[in-house]
Amino acid sequence: MFTGGPGVGKGTQCELATEELKKSFDIRSSLHISAGELLRSITKLPEHERYHEVCENLKNGTIVDARITTDLLNARIREHVSNLESTVKTVKDNDMGSDIILVDGFPRNMSNWECWQEHCDINTTPSMVFFDCPRSVLLNRLTKRGQTSTSYRTDDIYDTILKRFSVFDSTTLPLVMHYQKT
Ligand code: C5P
Ligand code: MG
Repeated sequence: MFTGGPGVGKGTQCELATEELKKSFDIRSSLHISAGELLRSITKLPEHERYHEVCENLKNGTIVDARITTDLLNARIREHVSNLESTVKTVKDNDMGSDIILVDGFPRNMSNWECWQEHCDINTTPSMVFFDCPRSVLLNRLTKRGQTSTSYRTDDIYDTILKRFSVFDSTTLPLVMHYQKT
């Protein structure tokens, strides 16, 4: 699980880490999931029962109810496992190394973490990687991304960036501190 402040490059680092892991270990399959992207996919589904709640949180830079994000992560992992099962045809294939899952942007707060521990579908002990970066660099990066990106993000605007920093300080950082101690 890759966590860190907004704009720190969690997604980019996940991609790079996947390539590095493939060089050093026998990897059968890899899956990179961005919790933020999963949530943004809900903003294209007005019929979704939690549509308004998710859109509102994304627009405000606040953290979506943990059960929604956990359910989305579980569904994505189940889909991956089922694709894998349908492609692994022989015992030999089955022996071909580890399956790695890299999740970026999760957990974001203690509630994310507790909900995951209670409801996650897979039997694994995740490792958490935390990225840190000076705030001025993050602000610069996010402002540029807001001006140039063609994605459907609604949160790379100055006021929301500041709110996301404040959410990070008050909820993500305490989680990281807690996790570092355990
Ligand atoms: O990780 P990313 O920057 O893409 O997250 C964008 C937004 O998605 C966050 O500001 C937050 O509103 C929402 N989010 C969340 N819970 C997560 C990850 C992202 O609510 N675990
Ligand atoms: Mg990202």
